[in-house]
Amino acid sequence: MENPEPITYLTQQQAAEIDQLLMTQSGYTIDQLTELAGLSVAAAIAEVHRQSEYKRVLVICGPGNNGGDGLVAARHLHHFGYNVCICYPSRAPEPLYEGLVTQLESLPAPFLSLESLPEELLNFDILVDAIFGFSFDGNPWPPFDDLIRRLASLRENCRGHPKPPTIVSVDIPSGWHVEDGDISGEGIKPDMLVSLTAPKLCAKRFDGPHHFLGGRFVPPSIVSKYELKLPPYPGTSMCVRIGEPTCADQPGVSPPKCIDKSVEADPFVQFQKWFDVASAAGLKYPDAMALSTATKDGKPALRTVQLKKVDRGGFVWCNNYSSRKGSELSENPHASLLFYWSALNWQVRVEGFVQKVSNEESEEYFHSRSRDIQITPTLGIQSIVIPGREVVYQQYKEMEEKYPEGTTIPRPQNWGGYRLVPERFEFWQGDESSVHLRLRYFVQDNDGKMEWRCAE
Ligand SMILES: Cc1cc2nc3c(=O)[nH]c(=O)nc-3n(C[C@H](O)[C@H](O)[C@H](O)COP(=O)(O)O)c2cc1C
Repeated sequence: MENPEPITYLTQQQAAEIDQLLMTQSGYTIDQLTELAGLSVAAAIAEVHRQSEYKRVLVICGPGNNGGDGLVAARHLHHFGYNVCICYPSRAPEPLYEGLVTQLESLPAPFLSLESLPEELLNFDILVDAIFGFSFDGNPWPPFDDLIRRLASLRENCRGHPKPPTIVSVDIPSGWHVEDGDISGEGIKPDMLVSLTAPKLCAKRFDGPHHFLGGRFVPPSIVSKYELKLPPYPGTSMCVRIGEPTCADQPGVSPPKCIDKSVEADPFVQFQKWFDVASAAGLKYPDAMALSTATKDGKPALRTVQLKKVDRGGFVWCNNYSSRKGSELSENPHASLLFYWSALNWQVRVEGFVQKVSNEESEEYFHSRSRDIQITPTLGIQSIVIPGREVVYQQYKEMEEKYPEGTTIPRPQNWGGYRLVPERFEFWQGDESSVHLRLRYFVQDNDGKMEWRCAE
């Protein structure tokens, strides 16, 4: 299909020339351009990933200008309400960068050393790759080669993780060739790319769900000299989306045409395949599932919970054991889960019985949450009538004071995980022709061996 609004993609040399022109004939300073670039990156992140859902951010900054953009983005994200950490292993000595470090330290936004970074980076919701930009050439060097390797292997390492961190690359996915892209095929595959000034040629090969342009400062003289075709920025926005977005949960976005006709013999493999597609489609809550429970005399109730983990043992979520669902499950362990991914028009129903996970597993889930979400269950307010919001805010404040940063918040004994062990699966795929696909799986006893059977 022909692109209705063609966009200019720059060669490496054009990008360098435009940068020079901005700082000579157009009168900008490097400080101004860095500030505007970093602000655009932060604005684009906030447009897609709300801080209520994606709170914990790690910005990995390289030694040059791209790292500077990352430092500015980190400051703005902090002011937007995100919990931002920065990894800046090779600090540039120029006053611009020293000033940015001082600004971040005074917030305070913590700087993490390489040694203190967890190998798998799973403690974060957003990883900002601000390592190398458009002037990068050749092979990444230590310690950035290892950081790039960790970002590149993240998706593989997170298989089965319901909400792996999302990767945002600033201007160029680090390690990519500025014009030819990910030549080795083993580079970072970001979920979001924020091109700056104008996209570089490698951005044509970006196939993640969110491509934005930032850097709303290009004067007409540069636009006409390079015959730049760039999308107009809406209203007062510092960023603009490029290309066809892939998420129907967001305004103005069309759903991906994803029809999956292949059938796996194993329902867990089938589920993981669909879940991976839903996670990559940029949906708001791909891990949200409706949970139905019933009293012992069969009166049902539904609510939404968040999938914490899925593996062959079943589907795990966490909650207050004294809640309504907790008390219903204690008298009737039969339950059902429903995922509905509206942009894809897919749904998955899972039926089975529910068990509590071990205390050790609940501890692990509890302490993997950000501190503010750890505090909420300690207030013990789920499914009860509370005397008023003010009382809850006061209790929350008291808990924050009782357990300052650096101390361990103890898990309340009535908070923990449940695992639904599946006995049936039903996958449903809506189709424009109204011929919907339905796949059912159920467990069958085959000479004493329990096996999954599939019926289309
Ligand atoms: C997207 C979304 C995710 C939610 N995730 C959870 C969760 O993981 N655990 C939980 O206890 N409540 C979660 N809730 C809140 C529940 O839907 C529900 O209000 C709460 O658990 C009380 O349910 P109950 O009184 O039926 O036990 C979530 C709500 C939404 C909208």
